[in-house]
Amino acid sequence: MRKVLVATDKPFAKTASDQIREIFDQAGYQCNFLEKYGDQQNFVQAVADAEAIIIRSDIVDDELMAAAPNLKIVVRAGAGYDNVDLKAATARDVVVMNTPGQNSNAVAELAFGMMLYQIRNRFSGGSGTELMGKTLGIHGYGNIGKHVGRIAKGFGMTVYAYHHNPARNAEIEQDGISPVNSPEELYKKCQYISLNIPAREQNKKIINKDLLGLMPENAMLVNTARKEVICEDSLKQIFAERKDFSYVSDLAPGNAAELAEYANRMFFPPKKMGAQTAEANINAGLAAARQIIAFFKDNDIRFKVN
Ligand code: 3PG
Repeated sequence: MRKVLVATDKPFAKTASDQIREIFDQAGYQCNFLEKYGDQQNFVQAVADAEAIIIRSDIVDDELMAAAPNLKIVVRAGAGYDNVDLKAATARDVVVMNTPGQNSNAVAELAFGMMLYQIRNRFSGGSGTELMGKTLGIHGYGNIGKHVGRIAKGFGMTVYAYHHNPARNAEIEQDGISPVNSPEELYKKCQYISLNIPAREQNKKIINKDLLGLMPENAMLVNTARKEVICEDSLKQIFAERKDFSYVSDLAPGNAAELAEYANRMFFPPKKMGAQTAEANINAGLAAARQIIAFFKDNDIRFKVN
């Protein structure tokens, strides 16, 4: 009997966990859940006999894989896999997959939730501003960027997008969005910028003072990507220099304590919650379970990322 561990410090919604269990039951797999485990050592101690692991933002490093001698596959139920040591996985012959697109709408909706919260004076009753007629720049036109564009058009915003690969421009245009040729052009044009780029090495700290300084009046940076893509020293400088700048993010910046004086121009939830909806949990969690079964049954490696 194949053994799967679903290790989620931030658990899936119960409806998703129940359906994941059902999929593995039907396939004749043994499926254990490790939720809210807190200390990484609790995760390490739970993997001894796992052949497959489903995770979210949980850390899978060499130490963890060394403790799982039967491990063949790790599926990140979600998009970003910066929490998995791909090199170590490859060296240990462990296949790593993600479930692209499955939680994208949830993340995109959160971006607008945070924007509205901030421009409506945090729902305090004070007069705010609207999104209609404003410019929005999508930095990174992947699965999430595409949903952000769709929703922004619904709000009546003028939408631009920059994607590092210009081959994507035709699709951007087809979606009724104007492609631009550089991040500089995007930031210069757009009052709102939605970050939808992965935390790959080449993207770390690329959102810096030079780019943010180009944004028009009442600039807002919306980060549902990763804190690593922001140069946090630049963020501090921009907050100090521009009283019209605000930042809403799905994750606290690493230097949040130093930014305390700008608290009214900055928002982040206590825990990353972009993908924290029942729908996203069901989409990504069930996709992960099915990908594991297809891998063992048919050697299906379509979603392999290492
Ligand atoms: C992702 O990369 O899929 C999102 O950041 C969601 O992460 P989560 O599963 O930890 O909520």
